[in-house]
Amino acid sequence: MKIHVLGSAAGGGFPQWNCNCPQCAAVRGGSPHHLPRTQSSIAVSANAQDWLLVNASPDVLQQIKSFPGLQPARALRDTGIGAVMLMDAQIDHSTGLLMLRENRQPLQIWCHLLVREDLSTGNPLFKVLDHYCKVDWQALSLEPQGFAIERVPGLRFAALPLISNAPPYSPHRDKPQDGDNIGLSVSDAASGKTLFYAPGLGRMEPHVWQAMQASDCVLVDGTLWTDDEMIALGASKKTSRSMGHMPQSGPDGMIEWLDKLPAGVRKILIHINNTNPILDASSPQRQTLTQHGIEVAFDGMEITL
Ligand code: MLT
Ligand code: MN
Ligand code: ZN
Repeated sequence: MKIHVLGSAAGGGFPQWNCNCPQCAAVRGGSPHHLPRTQSSIAVSANAQDWLLVNASPDVLQQIKSFPGLQPARALRDTGIGAVMLMDAQIDHSTGLLMLRENRQPLQIWCHLLVREDLSTGNPLFKVLDHYCKVDWQALSLEPQGFAIERVPGLRFAALPLISNAPPYSPHRDKPQDGDNIGLSVSDAASGKTLFYAPGLGRMEPHVWQAMQASDCVLVDGTLWTDDEMIALGASKKTSRSMGHMPQSGPDGMIEWLDKLPAGVRKILIHINNTNPILDASSPQRQTLTQHGIEVAFDGMEITL
């Protein structure tokens, strides 16, 4: 299985358009320690031809341009994207759908019913797309036996409900419901290897932990380093956990959990907020990650499992 990281930043990207925090200023200024990043999205494929786009970020056009695998050019109008899957209904994971409106057939979108509802009411992207290519909605099952996607052959998928947060335009904001946010296990039939992907992960529930332990690679929530990071910077009044993102440092933080995974599981952080000091490759926090064997995803990163 090939995993191509199209975007590794959290909502807002890096630099964020209106942010002059030291890190956004550094990346804008061309610092050798700070890589620019687009908003989180990955593409997965077993045959490197038929790709599942997991989340459609506002940066999707730039991301498609940056990855020739998604434009095989077999016909006048063509794409390597066989289907799209949405982990949640947040802006940073869904608004790129509008940019795909020229698709020659209804866009096949796999997402949970609750996500479809939010994207048909509070932020009615699906309704808008009905005026263009239309949506071929596929109900995302949370059943443990998982499912296959015909347009992305060779892979098996299992979505599991997890606690993160629904967007502000959802009736479920701050009231998590099963299906608002998912974690995704992707297994390759040929190699037998499994990826666990969860760009939003607010709490380590037993079933999530089990799925992570059963994986060969976990690509998980790297939004904020400390719980009060945004408050301390004066950027927000919300804690990391209240936004549905487990911080990396501190008790019950992501590092503590990743340390407990079986040896051999590859550990990578994604969906990294522009305030997070791990975006500075020369920071002590990045050094700490390296000491714990934890990698930081970057735009264009290729993972083969
Ligand atoms: C999140 O991950 O909490 C959201 O995507 C934040 C946002 O709206 O950018
Ligand atoms: Mn997000
Ligand atoms: Zn910033």
